[in-house]
Amino acid sequence: MPAFHKELFYRGKLSLMRRVFSKPQPKPLMFSGAGSSVTLCRTIAQFGLCKILVVTDKPLLELGIADGIVASLNSMGVETVIYDGVKPDPTTQVVDDGIALLRQSGCDSVLALGGGSSIDTAKVVALAAANDCNAESCKGLNQCKLPALPLFAIPTTAGTGSEGTFIAVVSDNVTHEKSGVVDVALIPRAAALDPELMRGLPPHITAATGMDALTHAIEAYIGTWGTPDTDFFAVAAVRLVFENLPEACRNGDNLQAREAMAQASYYGGLAITNAMVGYVHAVSHNLGAKYGVPHGLGNAMVLPHILELMKGAATDKLAELAVHSGLGDTSESPAALAQKLIDRVWALNAEIGIPKTTDVIREEDVDALVDAALSEGSGYPTRRFLERDECERVIRALRA
Ligand SMILES: [Fe+2]
Repeated sequence: MPAFHKELFYRGKLSLMRRVFSKPQPKPLMFSGAGSSVTLCRTIAQFGLCKILVVTDKPLLELGIADGIVASLNSMGVETVIYDGVKPDPTTQVVDDGIALLRQSGCDSVLALGGGSSIDTAKVVALAAANDCNAESCKGLNQCKLPALPLFAIPTTAGTGSEGTFIAVVSDNVTHEKSGVVDVALIPRAAALDPELMRGLPPHITAATGMDALTHAIEAYIGTWGTPDTDFFAVAAVRLVFENLPEACRNGDNLQAREAMAQASYYGGLAITNAMVGYVHAVSHNLGAKYGVPHGLGNAMVLPHILELMKGAATDKLAELAVHSGLGDTSESPAALAQKLIDRVWALNAEIGIPKTTDVIREEDVDALVDAALSEGSGYPTRRFLERDECERVIRALRA
């Protein structure tokens, strides 16, 4: 397709999607700070709920992270049932097993406790259970008539921001192809950003998930769907990540840095809820699908390459972010400021130990990866659409 027609086609498709994504969305009642998970438990009890399904994973349970929360809920008269079957990139089967346990145990509400996979699983469990259906039938946009069961979230990583978004991602049982469940009912009623629960997160996971939050904020800010609201949250998230991610990686017990990163993650989630993501996610999702590259790590590696390509089309937006982040001032040219922001991302990656390359990408897969990334990227409100050779250069640059 000629470049002009391609652009017209993609922009037309996007303007239809924007009607859904640009609507004002509710935000969860949010508690933040050490001990805020206990405040959330009190709120759950005040909602008059009797029995809650705690959706989490086995490693977290073994670390005892759920113990205090379960004890708090029980002491406030809320019974708990634990579903610990969540795995990374949860499949529809993982979600359906959670729905089955919820029905069998008679729970009236759902609490997500964990990273993005636990929160996404809990979201779809709460929606499907209320609508008497399974995960498969929730896939897509607004497939369910009834609101979800009362849903709450306590993230234990700082990156996805899933506690603030109306999207959950589930994988096919066989092909592991990822699909989105998009429904405003997926936004939790209340959530807690409790840094106490993030103390034990290893530095490499802190680094990768933190870069996911930064990617959300930057992609939302430089895309074409930004609003004053999403720009506000994106700017806040970028500043928080630059100022706190290295310390959170170096000193996991620094609760201030942990809380700041949890807030950055939440704000990044709020930004992408209306403004979406871009090519960084398009490439990274496909590295994840093909080789299991963790989402945050993939984003971190891809982010500076895509920003280099977005210079020109997104120079002014990148320059604004640089000024908001204290990297320069408006006496400098937009091009110089944009480069400062990109250089800061390269430097941050180096500081927190993000590798520049990976040995998992096989030469024979490059063409298919480029096709898949370009196809996905055409569905995002990016400031310009990449040419094939540009996307190929990015993927080749990541090969060890
Ligand atoms: Fe992401």
